[in-house]
Amino acid sequence: MSIKAAITGVNGFLPEDKLTNSDLEKIVETNDEWIFSRTGIRERRILKGENLGTSYMAAEAVKGLLKKTNTKPEEIDLLIVATVTPDYFFPSTANLVCTQVGIPSIGSFDILAACSGFIYALSTGAQFIESGRYKKVVVVGADKMSSIVDFTDRTTCVLFGDGAGAVLLEPNEDGLGLIDFRMHSDGTGENHLIMKGGGSKYPASHETIDNRLHYIRQEGQSVFKFAVTKMADTAAEIMESNELTGDDVAWLVPHQANKRIIDATANRMGIGFDKVMMNIEKYGNTTAATIPLCLFDYESQLKKGDNLILAAFGGGFTWGSAYIKWAY
Ligand SMILES: CC(C)(COP(=O)(O)OP(=O)(O)OC[C@H]1O[C@@H](n2cnc3c(N)ncnc32)[C@H](O)[C@@H]1OP(=O)(O)O)[C@@H](O)C(=O)NCCC(=O)NCCS
Repeated sequence: MSIKAAITGVNGFLPEDKLTNSDLEKIVETNDEWIFSRTGIRERRILKGENLGTSYMAAEAVKGLLKKTNTKPEEIDLLIVATVTPDYFFPSTANLVCTQVGIPSIGSFDILAACSGFIYALSTGAQFIESGRYKKVVVVGADKMSSIVDFTDRTTCVLFGDGAGAVLLEPNEDGLGLIDFRMHSDGTGENHLIMKGGGSKYPASHETIDNRLHYIRQEGQSVFKFAVTKMADTAAEIMESNELTGDDVAWLVPHQANKRIIDATANRMGIGFDKVMMNIEKYGNTTAATIPLCLFDYESQLKKGDNLILAAFGGGFTWGSAYIKWAY
């Protein structure tokens, strides 16, 4: 049987500080009823502390992962971080994480695919295992969204939170692991969801700061329409090509942007809500971290051989899905 890349451990890190809907009522004109009914979010975590960036949360998640899986830092062959909130443009957050964890001189890099980042990074990392090139690959999804959220814009500041999740990939010859994946993108998404300032097109200047270009801007309704269709489409397409029915799927692991989008995806897949991993209520949208954080929260309920469908939609636009047979 061919080598598959199996997740053999998962860990998460969430900052302690909570920002509840009632806290937000004191910052912008909003209320718990609006936020919860439109999104499913009650609270989110915020990373506080001077000069702590995404790498801090990612490194904490990886340190715990190595401990949990009894893995030494020097055994890791490759580390990939999916993020839209890197500490810096360069060096990459993955480079910084390796140093903070004590992983010596391996290849490490970041992947930018916004809320689909973890599926992109997982699919990429898996290739190195499947080819036989590497034995232990760490894939992280981490975002400090509070660093790019405009806390005067009620249409976005209620949606996002900070967090990190990490998985270990190892070879499996019993047919368990990543069975299939889909990745998609459409750059016209820049018109609807973007952080415009600070890149090579609009480098940081007084003007970009005055115009608040270093924050996320989103046209919620247009993004919603794309997300609700594309996330359901990609989940359905991977099920169809692998001849899976709703009954065959043990869990949907959806990106946590909006409970209404998740419900629509589950409906399209023909699966009950009891099979849907959900933690949006506690953490909000942590971008690349939502899927590994779901796996972390539900780890004890997973069984060897369970069929999992991962599905995400995000900025870019990007969207994608993965079919995993759980390995432990
Ligand atoms: C953002 C989102 C929750 C907004 O919900 P919505 O039902 O589309 O709401 P609308 O944008 O139509 O706004 C409805 C009204 O609520 C108001 N509103 C917006 N944010 C509000 C808030 N936080 N509190 C109270 N009222 C708010 C709007 O101003 C608008 O008022 P108006 O009718 O007087 O103009 C929803 O569009 C969404 O989830 N979009 C997709 C997000 C996503 O998936 N992103 C991709 C991954 S990052």
